[in-house]
Amino acid sequence: MRGKTVSSDPDPSRREFVGGVLAGALTLSVGAAAAETRPLKAVAAQKGVLFGTAVGNDTPGTQASSFRDPRVVAIVRRECSVIVPENELKPYGIAPALNQYDYSDGEPIAAFARSNGIRLRGHNLLWNQTKYMRKWLVEWLGGVGAPEAERYLRDYIKHVCTHYGDQIHSWDVVNETVEPATGELCDSPYTRLLGIDTLRIAFEAAREAAPRAQLVYNDYMSWPDRDEKHRSGVLRVLEQLKARNVPIDALGVQSHLKDRAADYAPRAKVWKGFVDEVVGMGYGLLFTELDVRDRDMPADIAVRDAEVASMTRDYLDMMLSYRGLNQVLCWGLVDRYSWLEEDKPRPDKAKARPCPYDDAYRPKPMREAIAAALEAAAPRAAVPA
Ligand code: G3I
Repeated sequence: MRGKTVSSDPDPSRREFVGGVLAGALTLSVGAAAAETRPLKAVAAQKGVLFGTAVGNDTPGTQASSFRDPRVVAIVRRECSVIVPENELKPYGIAPALNQYDYSDGEPIAAFARSNGIRLRGHNLLWNQTKYMRKWLVEWLGGVGAPEAERYLRDYIKHVCTHYGDQIHSWDVVNETVEPATGELCDSPYTRLLGIDTLRIAFEAAREAAPRAQLVYNDYMSWPDRDEKHRSGVLRVLEQLKARNVPIDALGVQSHLKDRAADYAPRAKVWKGFVDEVVGMGYGLLFTELDVRDRDMPADIAVRDAEVASMTRDYLDMMLSYRGLNQVLCWGLVDRYSWLEEDKPRPDKAKARPCPYDDAYRPKPMREAIAAALEAAAPRAAVPA
């Protein structure tokens, strides 16, 4: 029966998936196995949630090239109702020079989303950190005044939002603009000229050019104690912008989880306090970049995978208790394309396992944890069509 099922299935990820499930079937009840094989997008949809991932269209063989791997694409097609280009829509990707726009890297991803009925998120319209800006932009902003800087930012956002039109239902308008160490607004060529108005201008321009899109402030503040200043800085920014009626709909909680699973429970109350404040100001919530940095976890794969899964489950259970949270996006579905292996390798050189699927494209306990948390979540209002 196994041979028949596998050989008649044209989808390679499905073959791996069925194989992975069968390999673990001894430990699963029939009911649990059946639940596990339901696509995550289906489990999520019954609760009004979109499930998805980032995909990267970089040169094959490089970190951010998951979209060039047919086996990843097959998994995405099966599991996801929403995707986000990992780097292709960043200003440094789109604007090679003043008033020049190049959408070619993101086009295949947008076309794939359209032809498969998958929603598209946009990441991002302004990454307010000098190191993520093109050299020409940093130099140009250094030589102009505030009115020119404002005009350029508005024009850029209008151009990009208009290019994608209604296909992008949700935009990270501003990404990471609070210094984690101090909680202050990042110093950038824009903020030097425009201060916190940089953010107001970006969100206003996005609202004007993409009136139906959800507008998101996206950041990576999290629950560890060391993130205290980062959390309070983000709250301050959200408060100030609310007081000025800046059109922000939601906080994108990136959710690059780390440390040990046992560290989370004692800090969950503080983290919930932060989320309560965000929700109390009237902002929605979404997960934009979920993954788990396993650097501090034991090397043993079974133990590590179990810890990643348990941290994911505890965190998701708490966050999904907020009915306004209706999108869950991972920052990659397959370990081999994760930014973490390149940027934050383990000291013992063991390969990082931060995603729901392993390097052999097999589902891991983290995937089960996501499915179980979605299954346990209360239904909520879905993202508007
Ligand atoms: O542009 C060259 C490209 O031509 C070349 O093929 C490639 C070879 O590796 O290098 C190139 O640029 C890389 C770019 O990704 C595109 O692949 C950069 O060196 C590399 O630094 C960049 O890393 C990305 C990083 O953001 C910075 O933009 C990661 O892939 C991406 O996963 C990461 O994502 C961020 C989110 O945007 C914001 N939140 C945190 C998250 C993780 O750091």
